[in-house]
Amino acid sequence: MTGIKVRSCGISVPDKVVTNDDLSARLDTSDAWISERTGIRERRVGGTTSGLATEAGRRALEAAGLSASDVSMVILATTTPDAMVPGTATTVQDALGVTGGAFDVNAACSGFVYGLVTGAGLIAAGAGPVLLIGADTLSRITDWDDRSMAVLVGDGAGAVVLEPVPGDGDLLSWNLNADGSLRHLLKCDHGGYLSMDGKEIFRKAVRVVVESAERALADAGLGAAEVDLLVPHQANLRIIQAACQRLGIPEERTAVVIDRYGNTSSASIPLALHDAIDHGRITPGSRLLLTGFGGGMTWASAVLRWGG
Ligand code: UT7
Repeated sequence: MTGIKVRSCGISVPDKVVTNDDLSARLDTSDAWISERTGIRERRVGGTTSGLATEAGRRALEAAGLSASDVSMVILATTTPDAMVPGTATTVQDALGVTGGAFDVNAACSGFVYGLVTGAGLIAAGAGPVLLIGADTLSRITDWDDRSMAVLVGDGAGAVVLEPVPGDGDLLSWNLNADGSLRHLLKCDHGGYLSMDGKEIFRKAVRVVVESAERALADAGLGAAEVDLLVPHQANLRIIQAACQRLGIPEERTAVVIDRYGNTSSASIPLALHDAIDHGRITPGSRLLLTGFGGGMTWASAVLRWGG
């Protein structure tokens, strides 16, 4: 039996900051509306998915003390690939100098947790260290004249290194879910812009996140009180607060970065993870509950002991 240890985390975000006031200057919206309804105050915009992913990956490898030649697989969770073909993970693999395999995972905002479980499965099947990256540039598929979407999105990337360890490892439980009959709720056709039924997603998101997080906790044999940190997908602060309340996890034990980054899709969980590590809120042995939801609809949770 081979499990995983999550060794390190690295992130990359574009330099350009777009504040709510910047958006209010050109759209019929306001800082008050955006911050009260979503918790977002500013977001980073710019770059490419491969560029941000490469930089985040490089930093995660450095933090783990590994070189590119140690990596057997690059998994890139993204819903905004640089191109239809080839997969963006191959650009990242080439830029980093990794000689192992590389592929994309598209499970929208649940992609990072889907990628984590996929990476653990590959390692259980005999793969060496996996570089898992969540990266998205939603700004590229957003109509910046549509206030309903423009105020929500941001760009960024976050990466972790998964290392094989003998035994069960640190992924204590997981579940990956989808309901394709809800795929109309959030979509972007080829060449088009993102659109969604925000209200309906909000309602469903709270329900499925709570159900899946509770299932993951039960499978790990843990109660809510034993979770050191909840690391949720950052789509709306009110969704996070509602989920915390129903799960019985206080907001003080929740990682929130939506105020600074907006919704960065596949990158939002690793961005929140990195911020918590940076602030000393995660130490080796911390029990983390990761949970995400997004287009598809997909949703996913995992309970992870932090390796460090
Ligand atoms: O990553 C996963 C996928 N996405 C999500 O998880 C998003 C989930 N949904 C949400 O976060 C929220 O539903 C939104 C933030 C998208 C919208 O918040 P809401 O509280 O559900 O607002 P609403 O859609 O009910 O709109 C309320 C009002 C409407 O005006 P009327 O009809 O009451 O006159 C909207 O036209 O707010 C108006 N509105 C805005 N006003 C100012 C919508 N967008 C804006 C805006 N600025 N940007």
